[in-house]
Amino acid sequence: MCGIVGVIGKSDAAPVILESLRRLEYRGYDSAGIATLVDGTIDRRRATGKLQSLAGELDTAPLPGSLGIGHTRWATHGAATTDNAHPHATERVAVVHNGIIENFKVLREELEGKGTRFSSETDTEVIAHLITGYLDMGKSPKDAVAATLGRLEGAFALAIIFKGEDDLMIGAREGSPLAVGYGDGEMYLGSDAFALAPMTNRVAYLDDGDWVVISRTSVQIFDAKGTPVERTVQVVPVSAALVDKGNHRHFMAKEIHEQPEVVGHVLGHYVDPAKQLLKLPEMPFDLAAIPRITIVACGTAYYAGVVAKYWFEQVARVPVDVDVASEFRYRECAMTPGGLALFISQSGETADTLAALRYCRSQDQHIASIVNVTESTIARESDHIFPTLAGPEIGVASTKAFVCQLMVLAVLAIATARARGAIDADEEQRLAAELTAMPRHLSDALHLGPLIEKLAQDELTDATDVLYLGRGASFPLALEGALKLKEISYIHAEGYPAGELKHGPIALIDDTLPVIVIAPWDRLFEKTVSNMQEVMARGGRIILLSDRKGISIAGDEATAVVELPDVDPFTAPILYAVPLQLVAYFTAVHKGTDVDQPRNLAKSVTVE
Ligand code: AGP
Repeated sequence: MCGIVGVIGKSDAAPVILESLRRLEYRGYDSAGIATLVDGTIDRRRATGKLQSLAGELDTAPLPGSLGIGHTRWATHGAATTDNAHPHATERVAVVHNGIIENFKVLREELEGKGTRFSSETDTEVIAHLITGYLDMGKSPKDAVAATLGRLEGAFALAIIFKGEDDLMIGAREGSPLAVGYGDGEMYLGSDAFALAPMTNRVAYLDDGDWVVISRTSVQIFDAKGTPVERTVQVVPVSAALVDKGNHRHFMAKEIHEQPEVVGHVLGHYVDPAKQLLKLPEMPFDLAAIPRITIVACGTAYYAGVVAKYWFEQVARVPVDVDVASEFRYRECAMTPGGLALFISQSGETADTLAALRYCRSQDQHIASIVNVTESTIARESDHIFPTLAGPEIGVASTKAFVCQLMVLAVLAIATARARGAIDADEEQRLAAELTAMPRHLSDALHLGPLIEKLAQDELTDATDVLYLGRGASFPLALEGALKLKEISYIHAEGYPAGELKHGPIALIDDTLPVIVIAPWDRLFEKTVSNMQEVMARGGRIILLSDRKGISIAGDEATAVVELPDVDPFTAPILYAVPLQLVAYFTAVHKGTDVDQPRNLAKSVTVE
């Protein structure tokens, strides 16, 4: 959950590294640092807090040198202090690291037993000392790194520079993403293509086990056995424009408002606009024949999977299991051979989700993933990928990626239903038309911004707890709405099945607890209304998200109502994500929290 960058260039590296680190701040931002080679010796600047603090350090004490490495940190081992900030260095070597070295304690004790003195609490520092030890034994930098990599257990992406080696940078990748950027007389290392975009769009992604020896004019990639290998150099169209906020105050606001547009990309990819029928590419598995679907993901992506369970089972009549990856990866699930294992991940690098994928691979499952980053590790380890086409999502709280995940899952559910004869061509066309109308409905929902901003200010900003309720496919929306609120406003919130209220949570109800009810008018609406009445009878404050019909039936007694466009129950979960995002966003803005980089979080959880 950190970001790393390396530059071996023709001009000062520090400013270039700093700009790249800005593009990686979404991966972690509790401290940062840069090291360069200055007249052959290693020098570095490090600072706690956001990248701005490091920029200030560099303004005060510029760091020359055309070879350097940089790091923005999300603390795993050791608090967010300057001593724990990367790069970690000895007099002979400097290293930046994304990941976790699982055997660092054993290595640290071994090194301390030989007299090594540590200056940090981090796992990373053992890497710098191990390489130095091998250098002191007379090994070349390349051999010293190779020997060190053989000692490390866990996940790492590394960038390393060496005293006295002005034309050498070494990188390594095991479990955490790392890309090589190709320039003109310059080369780069970065955690993703985003970080490298200001310098180059020519990128090669390393595979697990790869390590790379780089000079200004050469790149030599080796596999774990030290055998030279080739990795495809791709041209990655990451335009600089994609990482700006445009005229929005936050990336999250920009990304919420991009949803009509990016959902249009999904439709363009998966639906034939003329025939209003699905157009899915050839898949290496038969949707008609798969006996069972297992969906695994984390956080918001998991909630998309829970929505999909309702769709697959109700429309396609295929059994679905859904689980969070951190549980699934260890519970040794007994799986039906020939099943479809479906992984949902915006980043495509979430460690728990990747581990779950590898378990399913061992259980004779077809592996497919719904990802936003199509060159990510999860994508590369899948038999088939379904891109979400949301474009880069910088805000740590996932919004447009979630809605695009739902769109792709809806397409898959319809395609599976059609393949299994559970629906006919007319029903496919009707559902496809409902999806095709989503950009317009999402756009209408975005116009509710001012109303929701006032509601957030009046009802939520001072709340200490909030309860979200929903039935059917609105229940996972309740979970997602609660997650959005807590992760960016820091207000405790909980999503619950509305029918579960009387089994305990109703004890929470009083006039200080806002209860947000997600209830488009559908076959379960009346049941949810009775849950609302249970709440109101106890002085609870109801905020009702519904449509015209629902509000005409149950809106009078609610503290506040938000009227959404009328949509088919099938697509309602996609639409109702927008007010939930806006509720969280405006509450956080009024609370003054850091909307795009909330405390303690990172955008991509690449460690378990
Ligand atoms: C979403 O708002 C959260 N930031 C988080 O739950 C996220 O959805 C989760 O970490 C999964 O990430 P992924 O989609 O990149 O795998």
